[in-house]
Amino acid sequence: MNPLDLPLPYPVVVEDDISGSLSFFLSRQIYSQLFVLCDENTQRYCYPLLQEALPPHTLLCVPAGEEHKNLDTCREIWAQLTTHAADRSALLLNLGGGVLCDMGGFCAATYKRGIRFVHCPTTLLSQLDASIGGKVGIDFMDLKNHIGVFQNPIAVFIGSIFLNTLPQKEIIAGFAEHIKHLLIADADEWHKQLQANSLKATPDVIARSLGIKSAIVAADPHEKGLRKALNFGHTIGHAIESYCLQSHSPLLHGEAVALGIKAEAYISLQRQYITPQEYQQLATFIDTHYPKVLFSSKDIKAITQLCTQDKKNEGGKILCTLLGKIGHALVNEEVSGEEIEEAIQQVAINQIHSL
Ligand SMILES: NC(=O)c1ccc[n+]([C@@H]2O[C@H](COP(=O)([O-])OP(=O)(O)OC[C@H]3O[C@@H](n4cnc5c(N)ncnc54)[C@H](O)[C@@H]3O)[C@@H](O)[C@H]2O)c1
Ligand SMILES: [Zn+2]
Repeated sequence: MNPLDLPLPYPVVVEDDISGSLSFFLSRQIYSQLFVLCDENTQRYCYPLLQEALPPHTLLCVPAGEEHKNLDTCREIWAQLTTHAADRSALLLNLGGGVLCDMGGFCAATYKRGIRFVHCPTTLLSQLDASIGGKVGIDFMDLKNHIGVFQNPIAVFIGSIFLNTLPQKEIIAGFAEHIKHLLIADADEWHKQLQANSLKATPDVIARSLGIKSAIVAADPHEKGLRKALNFGHTIGHAIESYCLQSHSPLLHGEAVALGIKAEAYISLQRQYITPQEYQQLATFIDTHYPKVLFSSKDIKAITQLCTQDKKNEGGKILCTLLGKIGHALVNEEVSGEEIEEAIQQVAINQIHSL
């Protein structure tokens, strides 16, 4: 077992096949019972890759999908733990994507005032983003991640082998968070990415993203300021995601974030924080790899309206994270509705798919 050198209070292991390292780690832990939480897809595709390496355990399975990241599913998880007489020294292993890690972590953090948990993220998004940072929670009354706590896992085991069964669309979407990490913190690597012009999810890519995110999280674990850098692309991206949810062609989170990155980079260009050439390279990269959307002026107004409701705004102002330059984020930049509207128009250019 060879954890990455990250400024986090728990080990993070990235390997192709993590079964040996995970089994070694578990053999050194003292716990009363081990529970493995899967969703129906990770039970089918990921669990068989680990099953033989795991010590005796109880398998719990919940339905897959964001629509199940709610209190009803938590109730099911807590009920199963209770039925199996899990005590405070039980250990929960979350084997799944961001939905499962967020919800499993939340259930563990609250069951009997908290039991320990390990994350085994199985989607690219959860491997390079959601599995570290300590945020766990669920959706409530149509509000994303409305109920939750900060609680760290005791370890994170990331196996790139799991990505073999992940649909390509999910890989592309997850990669948007990697692009975000490079743009806010690693100009050199961003330029290499532009040259390579492909979206290959290797253990190196995952480790690099985790290095960037962990440094930011370590400096601001409870999101008081600096951590808002990670929000780049998300003010407009979230609004596009929510708006498209109501249409017949919803976008994955990462797909919407890619469009949000382009739009927020455009505002950075308008403020002359980045050059026209830098913007153009970025825009071409996003246009090449991500779905394009057609927004009418009514759509654009509605998306702008949604940006004003972003939970990170303060005192009625729209606060956004912009690029101060490539490789550097500026947090709490106040932007106007007009700037947002114009930026969303850029995203709707080169229309192919319509809502
Ligand atoms: N805690 C954080 O810091 C943080 C950060 C970013 C996102 N998130 C959360 O992450 C969630 C999104 O995560 P996600 O994109 O991983 O979605 P997800 O967990 O819903 O996974 C996407 C789909 O892929 C399936 N799947 C998972 N692994 C698979 C595999 N290896 N092979 C085949 N299918 C597989 C899942 O069953 C699901 O159907 C959101 O709820 C978001 O709020 C949390
Ligand atoms: Zn995101």
